[in-house]
Amino acid sequence: MDKIIIEGGNRLVGEVEISGAKNSALALLSAGLLTDDWNTFHNIPKLKDIDTIKTLLLHIGAEIEEDGNTLKIRTRNPENLEAPYEMVKTMRASALVLGPLLARFKMARVSLPGGCAIGARPINLHLMALEKMGADIKIEKGYVITKAERLKGARIYFDISTVTGTENIMMAAALADGVTVLENAACEPEVSELANVLNKMGACIKGSGTDCITIEGVERLKPVIHTVMPDRIEAGTFMVASGMTKGDILIENCPIQHLEALATKLRETGMEIEIENNGVRATGHSLIKSVDVKTLPYPGFPTDMQAQMMAMMCIANGLSVMTETVFENRFMHVSELRRMGANIRIEGRNAIIEGRPFISGAPVMATDLRASASLVLAGLAAEGITEVSRVYHLDRGYERIEEKLAKLGANIKRVKE
Ligand code: EPZ
Repeated sequence: MDKIIIEGGNRLVGEVEISGAKNSALALLSAGLLTDDWNTFHNIPKLKDIDTIKTLLLHIGAEIEEDGNTLKIRTRNPENLEAPYEMVKTMRASALVLGPLLARFKMARVSLPGGCAIGARPINLHLMALEKMGADIKIEKGYVITKAERLKGARIYFDISTVTGTENIMMAAALADGVTVLENAACEPEVSELANVLNKMGACIKGSGTDCITIEGVERLKPVIHTVMPDRIEAGTFMVASGMTKGDILIENCPIQHLEALATKLRETGMEIEIENNGVRATGHSLIKSVDVKTLPYPGFPTDMQAQMMAMMCIANGLSVMTETVFENRFMHVSELRRMGANIRIEGRNAIIEGRPFISGAPVMATDLRASASLVLAGLAAEGITEVSRVYHLDRGYERIEEKLAKLGANIKRVKE
């Protein structure tokens, strides 16, 4: 296993190019199950999670051709209409094949995801929706076995706004008989990008980006050519990196329109976040004001930026309360940040951070994707050396982050553990 070693204290200055959006790419590649001719996706990021979904799609029987960050996919004669436990347990987003398999091939056998570091993360809402659309669903030996001659349009209310639940049902409903209405649907930009791509494939989806999405089923979908949008969470992570190191970073292809909640909070800490050409310049200063943050479904403050923002509040001047409302156990980074001298108290869904003038480098362990990002950020600002182990978590969602940070002036390297 690799680890990342950082000597903190350097200002980050320069330009950085953001890779394609991981969570968008995962849904778009799953949509590759919906057509028998080649779909072409540009700007696919090189990430572990993308490798995982490719392995799953190939296992199912999709054909994939790759050229750099361009990936072509079609599905003609699938052999295995299933997502096995071995794959689902490493990445819950594997459940995204459920809707497309059922809609196009009338059946699917998908492992239930099981536990996850940041929370239970069941898929009960995905299954409730498919059942409403007429799918026959059984749970056997940890697998969802589902069949449907043809799914029927239905009116579906999600008790909780679910990103992949909304995406799964949009893909299923695209080929259903009749109209499906999703209420309390997720509004995340990745959901909107999937809806736009499905419409380019011939689907009839209205209302994406709002909490009410209407999908009128069609007979078949045609292949698409599409460029994946930049990853808003990677962009936000670099903004925080600048704020923590008194930096000055031009994020060249930053989707600022998808980061309003984060940008507002970072400006409250005293940073400048300014649009420049088609990028965003993020400038930090020695004084970091502490701010309170509450994570919410989009367009609220993204839960995927909570750990990174907490790292910044550890060196802010004052008290910050961070409330995690989306996942029930997304404070795994707290104990590791404490090892670096951070003063953090957890009370239920709240983390109370007493900012310190400095934190100290230490050996720390990554536990999940965004927790590992927060430890790298803390290492950039800490006094001394930080060693982050189990960086395979980081590689799930960040493409060559240590190279990008080194180019900005960080003293950072990856070593074999
Ligand atoms: C997506 O996960 C993202 N992953 C997550 O990003 C992100 O944190 C999350 O949305 C919230 O924005 C992908 O898009 C691949 P949810 P998802 O369904 O869809 C509960 C990252 O760091 N829920 O919106 O799995 C669930 O437990 C990852 O890139 C149910 O109870 O999240 C959670 O508490 C981490 N039943 C809440 O809803 C269900 O059937 C929101 O989950 C579905 C969800």
